[in-house]
Amino acid sequence: MKVLVLGPGGREHAIITALLRDPAVTEVHSAPGNAGISAIVPTHSIDANSPEEATALAERLEADLVVIGPEAPLVAGVADALREAGFPVFGPDAAAAQLEGSKAFAKEIMAEADVPTAMSRVAHDAATVEEALDAFGAPYVVKDDGLAAGKGVVVTERRDEALEHAMACISAGSSVVIEEYLDGPEVSLFVICDGQRTVPLSPAQDFKRIFDRDEGPNTGGMGAYTPLPWLPENFTDEVIRRVAQPTVDVMAQRGTPFVGVLYCGLAVTRRGLRVIEFNARFGDPETQAVLARLKTPLGQLLLAAANGDLGEREALQWDLRTAVDVVMAAEHYPDAPRKGDAIHGLDDAEALDDVSVLHAGTRIDTDASGNPSIVTHGGRVLAVVALGDDLSEARSKAYAGVHKITWEGAQYRTDIAELAAAGDVVVPTT
Ligand code: AMP
Ligand code: GLY
Repeated sequence: MKVLVLGPGGREHAIITALLRDPAVTEVHSAPGNAGISAIVPTHSIDANSPEEATALAERLEADLVVIGPEAPLVAGVADALREAGFPVFGPDAAAAQLEGSKAFAKEIMAEADVPTAMSRVAHDAATVEEALDAFGAPYVVKDDGLAAGKGVVVTERRDEALEHAMACISAGSSVVIEEYLDGPEVSLFVICDGQRTVPLSPAQDFKRIFDRDEGPNTGGMGAYTPLPWLPENFTDEVIRRVAQPTVDVMAQRGTPFVGVLYCGLAVTRRGLRVIEFNARFGDPETQAVLARLKTPLGQLLLAAANGDLGEREALQWDLRTAVDVVMAAEHYPDAPRKGDAIHGLDDAEALDDVSVLHAGTRIDTDASGNPSIVTHGGRVLAVVALGDDLSEARSKAYAGVHKITWEGAQYRTDIAELAAAGDVVVPTT
């Protein structure tokens, strides 16, 4: 099977690495890819958000499966165009990708499917914003309705800051969603869907804020680990039963079946499970950790989903070890990351046992003497992934890798999976 993977980031590097382990996958192509991806498969520099360009490339390659990594091409209708042209596609059509593309739409579907989520209101003007802020109280949660790469959400104790963010979104032409604050640890559960059926992967936890101890602004995600030893028993079954399956059922009834990954962003609160958000794709950087443990061949699984054929399957097979990944980001991420810094120590990190480096914002550059070198080319630059017998071992291996890699201004969190390794993640109880 020849697979084309669309997208430029660490998630796509992780997907491609896992696809290459599948004996049924004979060839993988990437568009546009990055420096790390180009070291393992051919890359094609097209605009992967363009339905025409993506379809033309799939036709030229005669792809047997197209896997769409990020949300932007999904929302832009790349999956629709590829399906129209006859390709099996892993990734929802634009209509179904609205589960991620519009938070207001996601709330509507959750209400219809009776999925537990935070109470919320949609606002288009200052009066409604103020009313909703006062109705829910502090901490305030204000979300840009549209896509914002994980950065459109403000959670704050300060009413003035909440109001300011809401008004900034509204003046930029968006509506905002204001909602009740959910206490309790967060979980990302990726559910593979074929339009009707649902197959969960292993739950992971992501670290959204830029600085240690969850301080500073939200980012796309600064690290992750899986599995989660502190989760209540049968948690995944409950998410399938109360969240993923009802959502997939409602999408099918509406005539917009969901094919791809339904990313359930959840909070385990005092009052039980709640959905924080849906995404229509694999999460980044959770995928880097989750796929490091997946033993079931990924290409065959994604092709079955793309063909609407998940059917009766054996349970997925997992490496029993724990995976941790730590994201290294460029200076000034998430505001205005600096690009073009030479990265050192990648080979030394890769040479460590059970450690791999998955690239996100990297590019091959030519230095003054004409030698190629790898430089930073985005906010999140790479993730160091490690497998260990438990969280402590996986953490120390991942950080040993991180300590080998340097560039000017590199930043990373030092506390990824630290609380969990110490057994200190608290699930609130009533
Ligand atoms: P989202 O883009 O909806 O995932 O929001 C980004 C991050 O903001 C989440 O991962 C949470 O950490 C936080 N967040 C979003 N909604 C809530 C909520 N209702 N209560 C508490 N935290 C939230
Ligand atoms: N890690 C969060 C996301 O992928 O949206």
